[in-house]
Amino acid sequence: MGFGCVGQGLYDILQQLPGFGAEVRRIAVKNPTKTRSLPADRFEYHADALLDDPELDVLVEVIDDAAEAFRLVKAALQQGRRVVTANKAMLARHLPELVQLQDEFGGTLLYEAAVCGSIPILRTLDAHFGSEPLRSVSGILNGSSNYVLTRMTQEGTDYAAALAEAQLLGFAETDPTLDMAAFDPRSKAVILAAHAYGLFLKPEQVLHLGIEGITPTDIAYAKAQGLKIKVVATLEQLPDGRVTALVAPTFVAESSPLYTVEHEFNGVILEAAFAGTQFLRGRGAGGHPTGSAVLADLAALRQKRAYTYTKLRQPAAAFTTDLAVEIYLRSPSESIREDLALTDISLEGTGPDGYFAVGFTTLARLLKQREKLREAGALVVRTGPISALQEARHSAQEALAQ
Ligand code: HSE
Repeated sequence: MGFGCVGQGLYDILQQLPGFGAEVRRIAVKNPTKTRSLPADRFEYHADALLDDPELDVLVEVIDDAAEAFRLVKAALQQGRRVVTANKAMLARHLPELVQLQDEFGGTLLYEAAVCGSIPILRTLDAHFGSEPLRSVSGILNGSSNYVLTRMTQEGTDYAAALAEAQLLGFAETDPTLDMAAFDPRSKAVILAAHAYGLFLKPEQVLHLGIEGITPTDIAYAKAQGLKIKVVATLEQLPDGRVTALVAPTFVAESSPLYTVEHEFNGVILEAAFAGTQFLRGRGAGGHPTGSAVLADLAALRQKRAYTYTKLRQPAAAFTTDLAVEIYLRSPSESIREDLALTDISLEGTGPDGYFAVGFTTLARLLKQREKLREAGALVVRTGPISALQEARHSAQEALAQ
């Protein structure tokens, strides 16, 4: 179901791997007038007809529309079918119900392609780290915004031109705002939270700040300190057991493995309680890399594999956004400083792109003021770790005393 970037990528992969032995029996698409890479008689226009066909032993859902995707996947799971999806927005909204449907009707849903394209992060979390506590899962989960940041940083490419390239290369969502305003990596963070911490979060609980407001001044500010700006998703368990999650532009130092993750590549750092640190890196967007993840799911279904959701079956940790974070704020208007109640300001001034400051705020406040920040055309970049509120004040006071 669906023959866009991912559907075509998968089709092409299966043609190149006749030994895999999968036959694409029926392809349902929405638009009958669109020109496609296969003859028109290969397509049909009612996805429900596929649901009614008992001979199809796997359904692959790779359509754009999250609501329609949910309707189709739900109906398929209610028939106890085996389904593969790449629809991260749909999963982030409906994962609890989809897990329950698998339990109730005995079907299987796999969705490796939904998070980090070709990187086997969900299988790693579910199959390998299902029993081990994770201190953090953090990384670059969106290829398009990483592509734009790479082009702006390496070549000084204009934001709009770099975004147009990402669209042409098939990395961006149909609505690129989903990538640039970090809705897409927020969906991926929500899915990761279920597998890494056994937490069903609502997308609205997770702070997502993007790069729509970025200017060459911000890139130059980072460069002057030997840093790069990357959109980093962080899921973290604090020493007191509470878990937090956010997606935000972040200053990344050369010592981080994320520093060299460029273009449409994604990278995820896992900090496990006993294994220590691991790093996974690979293509996060594009037809073939994402199709590769669907292929892996098809192979997994043959082996009768399903997600175990081990951590969901354990007592859930508390989720919090009541935490301090130091940020670099740059905004055409200075009033944003009060909206964020910026404290412990260590740098402040006015430059070619307006007001800038470095100071502390809280995740909860950023979450509350997110729309305002976006409307103001502001950019927020995380400068350091997230910490409990008292700790942050203490370390800021120490820094001032030195
Ligand atoms: N638009 C997404 C990205 C595609 O840029 O990462 C892969 O999920």
